[in-house]
Amino acid sequence: MVKNIANELIPPFWGVRVKPDELYMKQKKLAARVGKIVPFYVMDLLARAKDLESQGRSVIHMEVGEPDFVTAKPIIEAGKHALDSGFTGYTPASGIPELRKVIANYYQDRFSISIDPRRIIVTPGSSGALQLILGVGVDPGDEVLMTDPGYPCNKNFVEVFSGIPVPLAVGPETGYQLNAAQVAEAWSDKTSAVIIASPSNPTGTLLPRAEMEKIYELVKSLGGILIVDEIYQELVYGGDIFSALDIADDLFVVNSFSKYFGMTGWRLGWLVAPESYVEHLDCLAQNIFLSCSAPAQYAALKAFSSESLGILEERRQAFKERRDFLMPALKAIGFDIAVKPEGAFYLYANCSKLTDDSFKFCYDLLEAEGVALTPGKDFGCNKPEQHIRFAYTTSIEKMEEAVKRIKRFLG
Ligand SMILES: Cc1ncc(COP(=O)(O)O)c(C=O)c1O
Repeated sequence: MVKNIANELIPPFWGVRVKPDELYMKQKKLAARVGKIVPFYVMDLLARAKDLESQGRSVIHMEVGEPDFVTAKPIIEAGKHALDSGFTGYTPASGIPELRKVIANYYQDRFSISIDPRRIIVTPGSSGALQLILGVGVDPGDEVLMTDPGYPCNKNFVEVFSGIPVPLAVGPETGYQLNAAQVAEAWSDKTSAVIIASPSNPTGTLLPRAEMEKIYELVKSLGGILIVDEIYQELVYGGDIFSALDIADDLFVVNSFSKYFGMTGWRLGWLVAPESYVEHLDCLAQNIFLSCSAPAQYAALKAFSSESLGILEERRQAFKERRDFLMPALKAIGFDIAVKPEGAFYLYANCSKLTDDSFKFCYDLLEAEGVALTPGKDFGCNKPEQHIRFAYTTSIEKMEEAVKRIKRFLG
């Protein structure tokens, strides 16, 4: 808790013993939520990795949840063209109509789901989408259910809106996903929403359609909202690829141009909302973001072109090959991966046969062998010390070298 010392300092010390700058710094209020929002632990590890690299050490990066491919050429060209054409101003808060239409067409072509483009709101990444949804759906004190382990920002987004994140421990028995029974048990009269990610970060596992249907029915009957994060939806290597929009249209779906489309730095995503929320979301988007980046939106129009999709499909195949290399390679050196991840680009490995402190393990490994991984601690409180996330966002050659180094580190 930050102590507000203004009352103690202003009279009689004003201008006498405390310099105005110092006083301003000291009396500045810091909202209590700041203390509840934790930074990514892996950022410190990344900083240390960069440090080592600047000293000439070789570091293999498997910590970052970002494709190692640059944005596909046709998308970049469209972005450049947008800039040359002067598309540098604000756009409508919910996105340019052309992009909303192209996204609606994507659902039609890919999943045979018909969506009114009005229900699609273009956002600054799926991060922006999640914040808008929580902004219209969560009151202060409302509880929001989510998996632990799970995407770390979800908890923090809920904190931003003064909600109460309720992490529910999930493990291999349920494929690291929630099930309806668990949601029913955790539901209280304060619960207003459930967040699901399929495929999940950090586990890459999917929520089966039948279970998602059950959760949807349950949440609906309880009067809550279901938010399904489909950011890794197109990075699925086996199993049933479906959108939650195929189940119902009164749930929220979040997606992004970041991962499959390789556009992390363009900061663009979208959400699909139930009709009754559209106006409120647009109003909130106007106020919070004004609009998304115009050149990014025009560039994204090309993301669904056959030319781009051809490139992205090759990349998806490359990720699948990487997973197929890495999973057995890690198991062979003592990591346990109980559920085969069918999507995203992560393996969430149990390291309890090798260490009882994954955090220290990651730091020691980085220092000794220059392999950067993300400790379980970043994904929640559910046995984090027993887990490490491997991101296969690097080449098989580099991962071969990483596995060799880990083996040497393990002695
Ligand atoms: C599950 C999940 N949701 C949302 C995001 C946010 O991504 P962005 O804002 O780049 O779309 C991430 C990023 O890693 C993620 O893993």
